[in-house]
Amino acid sequence: KILILDFGSQYTQLIARRIREIGVYCEIYSCDSSADEVKNFGAKGIILSGGPETVTSNDTPRAPACVFELGIPVLGICYGMQTMAEQLGGRVESSDHREFGYAQIRARGHSKLLLNIEDHASPEGYGLLDVWMSHGDRVVELPAGFKLIASSDGAPIAGIADEDRHFYALQFHPEVTHTKQGGRILGRFVLEICGCQALWNANNIIEDSIAAVREKVGSDQVILGLSGGVDSSVVAALLHKAIGEQLTCVFVDTGLLRLHEGDQVMAMFAQHMGIKVIRVDAEQRYLDALAGVNDPEAKRKIIGGLFVEIFDEEAGKLTDAKWLAQGTIYPDVIESAGAKSGKAHLIKSHHNVGGLPENMTLKLVEPLRELFKDEVRKLGLELGLPADMIHRHPFPGPGLGVRILGEVKKQYADLLRQADAIFIGELYRHDLYHKVSQAFAVFLPVKSVGVMGDGRKYDYVIAIRAVETIDFMTARWAHLPYDFLDLISRRIINEVNGISRVTYDISGKPPATIEWE
Ligand code: XMP
Repeated sequence: KILILDFGSQYTQLIARRIREIGVYCEIYSCDSSADEVKNFGAKGIILSGGPETVTSNDTPRAPACVFELGIPVLGICYGMQTMAEQLGGRVESSDHREFGYAQIRARGHSKLLLNIEDHASPEGYGLLDVWMSHGDRVVELPAGFKLIASSDGAPIAGIADEDRHFYALQFHPEVTHTKQGGRILGRFVLEICGCQALWNANNIIEDSIAAVREKVGSDQVILGLSGGVDSSVVAALLHKAIGEQLTCVFVDTGLLRLHEGDQVMAMFAQHMGIKVIRVDAEQRYLDALAGVNDPEAKRKIIGGLFVEIFDEEAGKLTDAKWLAQGTIYPDVIESAGAKSGKAHLIKSHHNVGGLPENMTLKLVEPLRELFKDEVRKLGLELGLPADMIHRHPFPGPGLGVRILGEVKKQYADLLRQADAIFIGELYRHDLYHKVSQAFAVFLPVKSVGVMGDGRKYDYVIAIRAVETIDFMTARWAHLPYDFLDLISRRIINEVNGISRVTYDISGKPPATIEWE
């Protein structure tokens, strides 16, 4: 396995995902980890990530000295290269010229890392590579024992190596897809230079997790809050495979789910897979708790708090249960670790419904804790969950509670469910569902005039939203075809009795958010 030391680059998670895609397990540790933590991890190789700081200042992070004393290969990327060079006796300079974007590098000096990896061959016999650069500082003097292995116009020293000690460093970013040969370079490092084997795949992950869960919980009973979302669904399928009847799921039907969603969850998990699922029909409790509440954050608090309360009640009835299973995934772990150490660049502003009951006596089992979302999806498919469920758009924890603007009422939720189902159904039918990242309908509790037959009538408004995004931090509205929007509008107004107007949301994020509340 490989250890990645994080110096705060926005690409650190990408490095980890690339390494895992190659089939090698890796984890991310903070760059200020202790020598013991680094040694105890037992890595076959270490990668030093990029980062926003400059090594020309003395109070910026350095790699723990032991990294260069363990006798294992090390790859420095960007800031990781600069700190490696500086720590081993080379020199780094700041420059006012920031190099950002595509660059072409010449691979020189026949290093094991870059040998025969190229996008073009140059007349002089160098391999040429198209790479992605993002740096201000640069290495200007090599440390003793190092040779130059790559250079570009903007960075004459774009890659260095000490092949006796298996130290390599690159100024560009092999982890981003813009560096076309990046996957091969990382593969060369972890498989050939570090000697890792590509054993990390869905099958092995399932087998390992099953063994780990069995060992951990023994013959104890386990409970799981099942929402129907990808993470909790995969945990349910995995635990069922691992411990069968020892698993009980609690599914809280808040009344704020999509059309037929509650029945679908039960059909899938209880009927089809034979998992014990307790369905709690809590619609009325939610409606009562939300009556008269207009403020979105207050609604979120009520919805989240009530979930914990109900889950707690159900858990209390299962007196044998000793373990609480959760669908925590690796990005959650990295983010909360980052938040604790003050190094978070990205602090999650949303929390899923389902915080932990405060006075919890149950122990935690989190079988997806080490996995990225794409790995969780692969696992889900391998475990036999339907592709539609695994690749469904994200759905916010508070559900329709934040898609009905202002006060939540049953009548509004019913109208919204129908409109949303028409929209989503047509997206699938027109092969557009997977071309957008998230799509849904929003209920606006205002009445606008319409003409039906001979009379005027005043009915509610539905807004349709579809966005394209990679990370949900920024998004653009999806340019759905006019004919398609026309069909949606006509179907909703004709079929949903109570809606007289449909609008399409053409706001980007920022400044708008994806949800309306
Ligand atoms: P915004 O509206 O902030 O949404 O642009 C970004 C992503 O987060 C989802 N979202 C939530 N998810 N609880 C959640 O679990 C929430 O309260 C919540 N609010 C927004 C939203 O659907 C989108 O995918």
